[in-house]
Amino acid sequence: MRLDDKVAIVTGAGRGIGQAIALAYAREGAHVVVNDIDPATASTTAAEAAKLGSKSLAIPGDIAKRDDIARIVETTVRERGRVDVVVNNAMRIVPGKLEALTEEAWDTTMNIGLKGAFLLSQAAARHMIGRKSGCFVNIASVAGLFSYNWAGAYSVVKAGLIMLTRLMALEWAPYGVRANAIAPGYIRTPGTEGMYADPEIYEGRRKGVPMGRVGTGEDVAGVAVFLASDEARYTTAALLTCDGGQAVGYYLSVPGRRFSGGRID
Ligand SMILES: NC(=O)c1ccc[n+]([C@@H]2O[C@H](COP(=O)([O-])OP(=O)(O)OC[C@H]3O[C@@H](n4cnc5c(N)ncnc54)[C@H](O)[C@@H]3O)[C@@H](O)[C@H]2O)c1
Repeated sequence: MRLDDKVAIVTGAGRGIGQAIALAYAREGAHVVVNDIDPATASTTAAEAAKLGSKSLAIPGDIAKRDDIARIVETTVRERGRVDVVVNNAMRIVPGKLEALTEEAWDTTMNIGLKGAFLLSQAAARHMIGRKSGCFVNIASVAGLFSYNWAGAYSVVKAGLIMLTRLMALEWAPYGVRANAIAPGYIRTPGTEGMYADPEIYEGRRKGVPMGRVGTGEDVAGVAVFLASDEARYTTAALLTCDGGQAVGYYLSVPGRRFSGGRID
């Protein structure tokens, strides 16, 4: 299997893309540490992973909190001996127009998606550097390449995460530690279901994707397996899109128009 015996922490893995990655890792032989702010969904994903043969562990916690991050890494090292892979996936968008966005909304998105990803990576890297082995898979977004309007700090966080990935890769390459990012496009998950349940929005977005379909968590998980595997051993600082071709051909949004994935309403 491609991730035999690797110990992998996946944040926000109670549902959506994070869950798909945790289960794909389990199928490839990894022992997954399932983090989520929601303890119930973290336990459910960990139980599913265990059915696939993974020595899985649920560690609920808030990725925006330094103490929770320290506990996640310490518990993983104590219970599973090491950290081989960290997938920084947890996120909560607080949408809003810039002129009305509250400081709290800005901080929430930044603290989970960027500061939390940094603090967790730093805590895990301190273990990886000593062992001269490890890798990070950061879940960015095509919204880190194009400005996604009315989504608060989201695009800023994702652009920052892409640059953080490059810095991690550069500074930790001498220690044998890799860092790569994935930029998903339109992916149907519980987090986006509210939007895709509207057939008009779904169709508008689907038509905006050159491959003609909205993606799934499993689509992203395939890329995340590759990046965590030894097949990617000479790949670091990369940004792989997983968007059906969207990023090269379409703008994410058109100012002043209804957001519909490249089609102007
Ligand atoms: N769905 C898409 O279209 C899409 C596109 C591009 C990028 N992404 C990125 O993929 C990742 C997953 O997205 P999704 O659509 O699966 O989201 P989702 O909302 O379905 O799932 C996110 C999970 O993260 C958890 N979470 C939220 N805040 C947390 C915190 N502070 N600490 C720990 N866990 C927390 C939630 O409880 C939830 O289980 C995010 O980083 C998102 O930005 C998603």
